[in-house]
Amino acid sequence: MMHIDILTVLPELLESPLSHSIMKRARDKGLLKVELHSLRQWAVNAYGQVDDYQYGGGAGMVMMCEPLVNAIEQLSKNRVYDEIIYFTPDGVRFDQKTANLLSLQQNLLLICGHYKGIDERVRQHFVTKEISIGDYVLSGGELPAAILVDAVGRLIPGVLNDETSALFDSFQDDLLAPPVYTRPADFRGWQVPDILLSGDPQKIADWRYETALERTRQRRPDLLDDDE
Ligand code: ADE
Repeated sequence: MMHIDILTVLPELLESPLSHSIMKRARDKGLLKVELHSLRQWAVNAYGQVDDYQYGGGAGMVMMCEPLVNAIEQLSKNRVYDEIIYFTPDGVRFDQKTANLLSLQQNLLLICGHYKGIDERVRQHFVTKEISIGDYVLSGGELPAAILVDAVGRLIPGVLNDETSALFDSFQDDLLAPPVYTRPADFRGWQVPDILLSGDPQKIADWRYETALERTRQRRPDLLDDDE
């Protein structure tokens, strides 16, 4: 069972995305446990303060060391984290390879930042991995955390069945996925490719590989530049 703790000032934002569909199945099957922790529990005063003005001036608040470090240290008493992850636009870009690697871990702690981010000293002394989900700025780390849990959770063995197997996803072999069709075979005169109706598994596999390759060449040639 994989255990993911999430530290956030907005646990409500994460409840719904982690409670449906495949994430729900993973949790119901006991393969994934996600716990949301409100950072306010570790606030520095009765007002629930967890952020403060930044040294040097400038607009925007910074999340303070004390609540974060107290939270991290308290949660670390219950389990040894394989990674303590902080979401930030200046982190390493999240991709399928990182999702694959993280799906092999037991315990993750995810830290969702807000405002201008978290005090740099927390990053230096506690965070082991800094992840960006793309080159755009979001208002907090909650949506990135939901994305990571979804991408990683569905890779945990037993979460997906054979039909939804992650082995054939886009990116798993550095190729985009081939096009897919369902009934009817003729919709308004638009036909499903004959090969898919042929019943010949080898021909179908070849066609899928060729169309995946062609699609990747056209849309994401960068994936084919053998750089690994
Ligand atoms: N927090 C704000 N923007 C982000 C991004 N693009 N990726 C990860 N965390 C973020």
